[in-house]
Amino acid sequence: MKDKIELLTKELIKKLDNVESIKELNDLKVEYMGKKGIITELQSGIKDVAKEDKKEYGMNVNIIRNTFNENYDKQLTRLKEMEISKKIEEERIDVTLPSKRIRQGSKHPMTRIQEELEDLFVAMGYDVYDGPEIETDENCFQKLNLPLGHPARDSQDTFYLENEYEAYLLRTQTSTGQVRVMEANKEKGPIRVVCPGKVYRRDDDATHSHQFMQMEGLVIDKNVSMADLKGTLSTFCKKLLGEKTDIRFRPSYFPFTEPSVEVDVTCFKCGGAGCSLCKQTGWIEVLGAGMVHPNVLKMSGYDPEKYQGFAFGTGLDRFAMFRFGITDIRTLYGNDVRFLNQFARKDENNEVK
Ligand code: PHE
Repeated sequence: MKDKIELLTKELIKKLDNVESIKELNDLKVEYMGKKGIITELQSGIKDVAKEDKKEYGMNVNIIRNTFNENYDKQLTRLKEMEISKKIEEERIDVTLPSKRIRQGSKHPMTRIQEELEDLFVAMGYDVYDGPEIETDENCFQKLNLPLGHPARDSQDTFYLENEYEAYLLRTQTSTGQVRVMEANKEKGPIRVVCPGKVYRRDDDATHSHQFMQMEGLVIDKNVSMADLKGTLSTFCKKLLGEKTDIRFRPSYFPFTEPSVEVDVTCFKCGGAGCSLCKQTGWIEVLGAGMVHPNVLKMSGYDPEKYQGFAFGTGLDRFAMFRFGITDIRTLYGNDVRFLNQFARKDENNEVK
């Protein structure tokens, strides 16, 4: 009996030593310890052993069982470690491989035009003010000479936001920047500022978007006249659209300016000869402007007897369209990368492919 056990033990150790995978190890477990396993059968064989030999028999079976368990555990740990290091080896990152290209977006044409206009005005000595898009009725209308119930509010029908304390709205014009800058200027001294940003109106047809971009300009000083306004706008349009560009003023109405003008530029497509873009007139309307209304100055703490000012407001979308030859305004808001990638510039290191 002892010899048999010894032989079995040797064989078992040898087999366990040679296993190469957890699967093989488990097969061995079935072979030895399973329901019909070698060790299990030995164990149940005790019933056929003579009474006086039972003790020794039992001890021997225990030895072989313990040997199996010990070696099994050892091998299991070894194989698990092996599997982990194999996995680590397989998943190792090769830092010498070329990296994947990171796709980086490009500047939106609206951002480009905004930056271009800002640069232009900064070069003329203006500051840039970036006001909030959520505004009060006071800043968006009342302090711009549009009291509650004023009929000119209708043309800028608005998105209102309410909380339990106060009603807010999405600004309908960047003219709100005028109010904010004037009020913030505690010394009530001269101002030269442009306020670019998004504005919101309840328009939603093919040529109007409920959200678009404007840029407001405000100059306040002593002895400011319409001539300064015209000179400034003329320089601005020439710089942006070409030296041959001419401008003209047409009388208009805005509650916050007096007198008010609509500003046209010579058509950038036909140069003024007349084409489909300018509807054969040779001119395209690009701006609203005028001398700051005395009421507006007063409401924000300026003495209209001492100070005058001019203001202008323009839609950036149109300028972007002219500047980049974009024919459909909706493409500016469609977020189609195929469209936007056309404005990527190599010198800005945009990876767009
Ligand atoms: N805020 C006006 C608009 O949105 C434009 C404007 C600005 C006109 C400043 C005159 C002076 O239509």
